Amino acid sequence: WPDGTRLDASDLVIGGVPATRLAARFGTPCQVLDEPTVRSRAAAFVRALPGAEVVFAGKSLPCPEVYRWMAADGLSLDVSSAGELALARAAVFPARRIIMHGNVKTAEDLKAALAYGVSRVVVDSFDEIAQLGALARHGQEVMVRVTPGVDAHTHAAVATGVDDQKFGFPLASGAALEAVRRVAGQPSLRLAGLHCHIGSQVRHVASYEETVRRVAGLVAACGTRVEQLDLGGGFCAPYLPGEPSFDLFGFAHRVRGALNYECAVRRVPVPRLLVEPGRSIVANAGVTLYRVCAVKYGVNRTFVAVDGGMSDNPRPALYGAKYTVRLVGRGGRPRPVTVVGRHCEAGDVLAEDVPLPADVHAGDLLAVAATGAYHHALASNYNQVGRPPVIAVRDGVARPVVRRETEEDLLRRYV
Ligand code: LLP
Repeated sequence: WPDGTRLDASDLVIGGVPATRLAARFGTPCQVLDEPTVRSRAAAFVRALPGAEVVFAGKSLPCPEVYRWMAADGLSLDVSSAGELALARAAVFPARRIIMHGNVKTAEDLKAALAYGVSRVVVDSFDEIAQLGALARHGQEVMVRVTPGVDAHTHAAVATGVDDQKFGFPLASGAALEAVRRVAGQPSLRLAGLHCHIGSQVRHVASYEETVRRVAGLVAACGTRVEQLDLGGGFCAPYLPGEPSFDLFGFAHRVRGALNYECAVRRVPVPRLLVEPGRSIVANAGVTLYRVCAVKYGVNRTFVAVDGGMSDNPRPALYGAKYTVRLVGRGGRPRPVTVVGRHCEAGDVLAEDVPLPADVHAGDLLAVAATGAYHHALASNYNQVGRPPVIAVRDGVARPVVRRETEEDLLRRYV
């Protein structure tokens, strides 16, 4: 739950605003985002890593207002498409603090990045190096995305440090060094540094230490000074009670130690460190409110059906993600239920076997915790259900930063 959330028998108060009031005013489903929680997590990264560049992974919560908070708090921004860049532009995010990513950038993505003047493009294929080289004017900075061959022990869909997946130039095959050479061969490009992103929801600092150890060899082999080393994001966030937060101070200490040591041994200057947190900044700031529409008693279990589902949260279906669910406004003897959505698939399950008061019934309000990251971002219009709004709360004041998608919005695209 967001910092300072009050959970008692009568209500759930987020950012000083009761959930019942949010649901009455903005309808359900509704994604609530506690601004102070977002900003204090962002500040924690900046504090823990003095001298480093902290880059918010814009894909985790694409929203101009959130990008404005990050700009104001001194973070940089990573975008992975012209679309995310358009949001950054709407937020007037300083171009010198924007990095563009992606294993595929279309010509439109690259042109948009160059037109806005993003400071660095992370290149991810030989084709892209050639394409960017042809499009860019003199001195466009790039980073080479390296696959270090590190298993970060996370879900296969978000494990990007291992060799057998689509991202980056493998260290092991020599492709990463060849990418550095190809960049050097493009007169319009300049190597700013190396980049790795080993995965998401990564729990162990050791995975990052191992990455540093492996990439340090390339830092030394480049033959030119590597000014920046971007270790990507992936720092885990807790979704269930008792799950730990990421050990940020352990990370700062051990990763810096490893980097200083490895560079000293190889007699190369220590590159400036960059990190790209997304989830760890926004996940726990978000709460989704749903209205219970029906309770059904199956042969083996009780289904509590709500007015949202996999269109606003596909994460259980995609990654087997688990969530904490609370009934708002009432306590009671708990019993396990399965919270399901409104979509036309048996796999549209939001939370399996979660305890809710035995008398949960239609009309009740449910709150699901830790829905700030990759929820608004992954939402779809399946079954032509409009996507929920995002309501920012702070100091007892609520304001929409993304409005609810209407039928008119949905109809607009059809010819
Ligand atoms: N940097 C790069 C290059 C990335 O690809 C990502 C996330 C991040 C940073 C931020 O990672 P984070 O700190 O948020 O873990 N849809 C999935 C997560 C996909 C992550 C994609 N890349 C999910 O809902 O779990």
